[in-house]
Amino acid sequence: MMTSLTRLPWVSRVFHERRRLHQVKEDKLTPEQMTRLRNFQEHLVVYNAVKDVLADLKYLHEAGVQHGGAGCMLVLGPSGSGKTITLHRYKGDHPPVIEAERDRIPILLVEAPPRATPKGLAEVMLAALGDPAPSKGTLQSMSRRVENLLEARGVELVMLDEFQHLVDRQSATGRVAYDAADWIKGLLNKRICPIVLSGTELASQVIEANEQLHRRCASIIHLKPLPFGTQDERRYFRGILQEFDSGLPFDKPSGLADMDFAARIHVATGGLVGRVSHLLTMACRKAISEDLLCLDMQVLGDAWAALATSSTSGPNPFRTTTPPTSGPKPDTSRKTRLRSRCRKRDINEMLRA
Ligand SMILES: Nc1ncnc2c1ncn2[C@@H]1O[C@H](COP(=O)(O)OP(=O)(O)OP(=O)(O)O)[C@@H](O)[C@H]1O
Ligand SMILES: [Mg+2]
Repeated sequence: MMTSLTRLPWVSRVFHERRRLHQVKEDKLTPEQMTRLRNFQEHLVVYNAVKDVLADLKYLHEAGVQHGGAGCMLVLGPSGSGKTITLHRYKGDHPPVIEAERDRIPILLVEAPPRATPKGLAEVMLAALGDPAPSKGTLQSMSRRVENLLEARGVELVMLDEFQHLVDRQSATGRVAYDAADWIKGLLNKRICPIVLSGTELASQVIEANEQLHRRCASIIHLKPLPFGTQDERRYFRGILQEFDSGLPFDKPSGLADMDFAARIHVATGGLVGRVSHLLTMACRKAISEDLLCLDMQVLGDAWAALATSSTSGPNPFRTTTPPTSGPKPDTSRKTRLRSRCRKRDINEMLRA
């Protein structure tokens, strides 16, 4: 007799989770609900590394304005670590100023185009500066227009995001676009304003390959995934979850910082703040549309399932009876057990001696 596929336990689980995923996508939120969700998404959690980035941006910016300093700094971190949102926060604190004769743009934030060339970099900057024909002209004329417009618009700090685009990942050796890096160095040499370079860890290759640019770097800050190994690390991660919790669009706290919840969230996200935010956003969508009073294990499990890709391994961390452990599992192989037993014997012998 044929058994219905969905009656097999693993198929039924996957089927059930996929159906929930479908629902999460299809749920329509009211404008008021959308606003609550958007407010949560835009809430930046300023933990220590983010604080460091903001402080260094301020230092570099002020050094440029007050002393004409034109160094650069590098912000590195994996995708989703919060580089762009942090740069946007700083830019948002220094909005454009409408003056009688011009619109002043204190902070110019642009993205390096894929496989960046000097012309490509000049073009994105010209477009952001309001040049009417940003792609037109020779490199020389484009560069001159960039310099003139930076001065004319009163730009005090340039932020170049997606800086890893200066490394060609298509080539086997990850070829660095030296000419594009040189173009940035040339712009720094004009001493118009400092430049912030931000990208994934791949971007450090550009700096390593260009000694002159490296020497100009006032600081290099890494936004890393947060660990959960030691007591201090757990306390720290839970503190961040506490802040996320207070930013959630619910009146009732969700208890995200409780040890059990925190351990599960860490396993689900690998400690990457961007992933925490993404997971919580998905869970919020579902919770709001179901009129829940706060997030719970069920809705987080649904969000995790909705975000799981085919390469996501392990069980749903919100569906296990005890929180799964994050990080490498303890080595319990026979060899290790024997080695540790030997070590214990040595110590006992030493104590007896
Ligand atoms: N400190 C934070 N507080 C709140 N949300 C954050 C924080 N850091 C990251 N996020 C969330 O994670 C998402 C991804 O962040 P962001 O786009 O800044 O990452 P990124 O490092 O620039 O990634 P990529 O390299 O892919 O561009 C953001 O939309 C934001 O919602
Ligand atoms: Mg980004």
